[in-house]
Amino acid sequence: MKNYKEDFPILKQRIKGKPLVYLDNSATTQKPKAVIQAITDYYEKDNANVHRGVHELSMRASIAYENAHKRVAEFIGAEEEEIIFTKGTTESINFLAYVLGRSLKAGDEILLSEMEHHSNFVPWQQIAKEKGAKLKIIPITKEFRLDMKAAENLLTQKTKILAITHCSNVLGTINPIKELAKMAHQVNATLIVDAAQSVPHMQIDVKELDCDFLAFSGHKMFGPTGIGVLYGKRKLLENLEPFMYGGGMIEEVTQEKSTWKDSPWRFEAGTPNIEGAIGLAKAIEYIQDIGITNIESYTGTLTEYALKELKKVKGIKIIGPQDINNRAPVISFTIQGMHPHDVGEILNQEGVAIRGGNHCAMPLMTSLKLDGTNRASFHIYNTKEDIDTLIKAIKKAQDIFK
Ligand SMILES: Cc1ncc(COP(=O)(O)O)c(C=O)c1O
Repeated sequence: MKNYKEDFPILKQRIKGKPLVYLDNSATTQKPKAVIQAITDYYEKDNANVHRGVHELSMRASIAYENAHKRVAEFIGAEEEEIIFTKGTTESINFLAYVLGRSLKAGDEILLSEMEHHSNFVPWQQIAKEKGAKLKIIPITKEFRLDMKAAENLLTQKTKILAITHCSNVLGTINPIKELAKMAHQVNATLIVDAAQSVPHMQIDVKELDCDFLAFSGHKMFGPTGIGVLYGKRKLLENLEPFMYGGGMIEEVTQEKSTWKDSPWRFEAGTPNIEGAIGLAKAIEYIQDIGITNIESYTGTLTEYALKELKKVKGIKIIGPQDINNRAPVISFTIQGMHPHDVGEILNQEGVAIRGGNHCAMPLMTSLKLDGTNRASFHIYNTKEDIDTLIKAIKKAQDIFK
């Protein structure tokens, strides 16, 4: 296996005199040279606004921007018209809460799970409040899996929306989306998938999953920040009114009324994040060159190794499934007698970057009766040696706190 660290300039540095071991990939991934170069090239050679000019630069920028939609579509098994660029997962879900919320009525139900990130929780809580709809929550089992029996009981004819994460950013649990799609569609509910943690790590085919909408962020998959994706089934997008109004999405405007372009342009008002789209397309090309299934199997091996090594350390409790089945390369854990922030700070002294806190999942933390956890998350540039360094640093932290 190639050492992919070489492709990522940022990983060459030392922190506190120690080689940087970056294990905060669920928060954001680092960027390979190819992505950084693609963005530089765009600004040095092709920068112009899109869809507006007939001059050479505008045509080049427009083609690159349109090709980015094509690249994303191909990556997740969608059609080009089904890919809307947003700022990220958060904006994609807020977009949906806003446009789908327009047709919600008092008494309608929105179903979420206990393991949602705030991005897929608060927008629904707010729209439910506004419309008098009811928010219902699918619990998790003792094994940190979605309680499918409860999900079945909670999905009723009143359920209009089931919005659920594909993969928990805290537990690493991967949810059975195909099964949930079947269940949701039986009661005519719309299935929305938060794929922020799954698209960067596993093969996704939206047609196979049969989800109605799917959201993810470029920065968690080697792309730049500020670019994300909302996938929607074509026939659903055709019937949706725009989220925002302005330039770039208009077919015709008179003093009396306006008409819109087709999807995706009707949903992308204003000057878009052109460099972000170009960077994301390059990031996908980088992933495709390695092969997403190779990434999945490599990070799976790392996760298995990390679970095994972490379990050997006295005082550590894994907060998430104990085995590798249907599990992403995200491991949350607590250390007896230590606060996650203290652990994070001591590990930083050793050059190890992990996350400590509630991971924007306060409803889950409340259910688990935890203030927070530490979280190590892996990607293609991590190695078994990185995990050994993590374990050594944890033991050092335990010694300090003895
Ligand atoms: C599961 C999940 N959903 C949503 C988000 C929000 O993503 P973004 O901040 O890129 O919008 C995150 C980010 O950590 C996440 O892990």
